[in-house]
Amino acid sequence: MTRTTRVIDGKAAAQRVRDELKREVDARVARGLRRPGLATVLVGDDPASAVYVRNKRKGAEECGLVSVHIPLPTSTTTDELLAVVRRLNADDAVDGILVQLPLPRHIDEHAVLMAVAADKDVDGFHPDNVARLTMGVPEALVPCTPLGCLRLLVDEGVALSGARAVVVGRSNIVGKPMAALLLGKNATVTIAHSRTRELAAVCREADVLVAAVGRAMMLGRDHVKDGAVVIDVGINRTADGKLVGDVDWDAIQGVASAATPVPGGVGPMTIAMLLQNTLTAHGRRLGVTMTT
Ligand code: GUN
Repeated sequence: MTRTTRVIDGKAAAQRVRDELKREVDARVARGLRRPGLATVLVGDDPASAVYVRNKRKGAEECGLVSVHIPLPTSTTTDELLAVVRRLNADDAVDGILVQLPLPRHIDEHAVLMAVAADKDVDGFHPDNVARLTMGVPEALVPCTPLGCLRLLVDEGVALSGARAVVVGRSNIVGKPMAALLLGKNATVTIAHSRTRELAAVCREADVLVAAVGRAMMLGRDHVKDGAVVIDVGINRTADGKLVGDVDWDAIQGVASAATPVPGGVGPMTIAMLLQNTLTAHGRRLGVTMTT
């Protein structure tokens, strides 16, 4: 029996989230609260990072947030960047701080990420937020990409409780927090990675397969169980300039029950979740919960 693999439309899902968030911002402003503020810090002139940050700022403004952007030269020292972060920590109009990664190699990235106030850490990278997520404490600010993946699964109505989930990739930004989120939804979670033996067999156990390895089309038909839901976090550029995921899209057609395309799957959700985290931080800092 062949099946049709449903396309999970991340662009449409992200637009729904952004519409919800805009209504929430409007409601808070109507109550006399100040607009939520998002600060973006970009060090250096990496073109891809510049595009990402521009899209984040544009998304913030479209949602009615105040966007503060701090571009810094490549020559910025760790101490100078720490001073910027501390100033943003102390600025009451700033609810969320995002320091775009990767930072130039001479900067102590860990020190910078540690310095972001945990209650403004809209990336969810600070150890306090990592601990809260792991402990299942609701106050955690959770990394945007895995939060977006979870939202797609929930919106699709995928049953997670008791399901077998395999996350391929163990990064701090995606793999580990993704596993913690799925565990929080009572899935049985395996984290696979570059050293995993018999990767295809491990992946074939999955009802929900999340690919976050950063290698073009690494997972194919052999890795997908019939009827599995596949979430592809990868964004890779092939030699001929095409954007592809970590999953071979054509190969899994008719095997997966649903899958996210690249582009247009997980990517758009990441920015939507950044905006959501900024509203969460704003709400907490002002002592309000969602009003809409
Ligand atoms: N660079 C690539 N992904 C991310 C992200 O999620 N947050 C930040 N700050 N930088 C990134």
